[in-house]
Amino acid sequence: MVKINSSEITPEHVYLSRRRFMTGAAKLLAGTALFAACGRRGPSVEAPEPGEPGATPTEVRTDELGNMLTPYRSVAGFNNYYEFTLEQDRVAEVAMGFVTSPWTVEVGGLVDKPKTFDLDDLQQFDVEERIYRMRCVEAWSMVIPWMGFPLWRLLREVEPTSQARYVRFETVLDELQMPGLREPFPWPYVEGLRLDEALHDLTLLVTGVYGRRLPPQNGAPIRLAVPWKYGLKSLKSIVRIDLVADRPKTFWETAGPREYGFWANVNPEVPHPRWSQATERVIGENRRKETLFFNGYADAVADLYDDLSSEHWYR
Ligand code: MTE
Repeated sequence: MVKINSSEITPEHVYLSRRRFMTGAAKLLAGTALFAACGRRGPSVEAPEPGEPGATPTEVRTDELGNMLTPYRSVAGFNNYYEFTLEQDRVAEVAMGFVTSPWTVEVGGLVDKPKTFDLDDLQQFDVEERIYRMRCVEAWSMVIPWMGFPLWRLLREVEPTSQARYVRFETVLDELQMPGLREPFPWPYVEGLRLDEALHDLTLLVTGVYGRRLPPQNGAPIRLAVPWKYGLKSLKSIVRIDLVADRPKTFWETAGPREYGFWANVNPEVPHPRWSQATERVIGENRRKETLFFNGYADAVADLYDDLSSEHWYR
């Protein structure tokens, strides 16, 4: 059994402030869709209106690097959630009314105490605010005040066995409520982390944003946030978490194997096959900025990886 002590976890100061897939044509669709969406302009957003979440008339909130928070209307108005639609500025509209109660997250696999958590069970975990940068593989970024709790707290409850080396996550498959599931992608959306990445204190299970409950378009009722990796690793509306021995095959690895890999650690020096990752479009502001190694979290996470000169960590 792997005992998870808080002391093994990165200290608080590092985060505070803050089906074998179809045909070649389908693969191409998968590969191009993410980027096609990227080329579109996001909503043009200025300061929040008074009364809007994030509107703080006397104080501008930033992350620990001084980046301004992305206004709520962009966080909740410009989204990637392919189960609903590929149109980033329509996800909120298509997902509106998504019923997420009752909801359960089944946690199992290589654990001594498998458990199914319902929404009430999840309330045992104290929620804190963490301001995280989110860098999408499509070269845009946001700074988001998430509400949530570290994943290691939940994993500790189920007691992973010594055979567990990876964690596999799965998003809900709800054909009645999610019209995007008609698109030819390798559903369900599956993601994975190595166990030490999953246990890292920065890895957050998110239940809210801007101090309020997570809206459907952002992954209600519970999603992941892994801030040093491209946003595609941060899957939404989680229904299953399994501790496994072998590296899980992810949605994007299956959909576009030449373009998306398992690790997806942010690195400005390793371009995506079709675009540079050196800079990013700052959503909510009319500018680009330089992309940081591990999205600015290198001090906290670089030692999880050996031989950082090897490209395999980044794609
Ligand atoms: N999770 C699911 N289930 N489906 C998705 O399409 N898109 C990913 C990730 N999680 C996605 C997902 C991508 S590419 C990004 S950048 C982030 O969600 C976007 O999160 P946001 O819409 O809350 O900003």
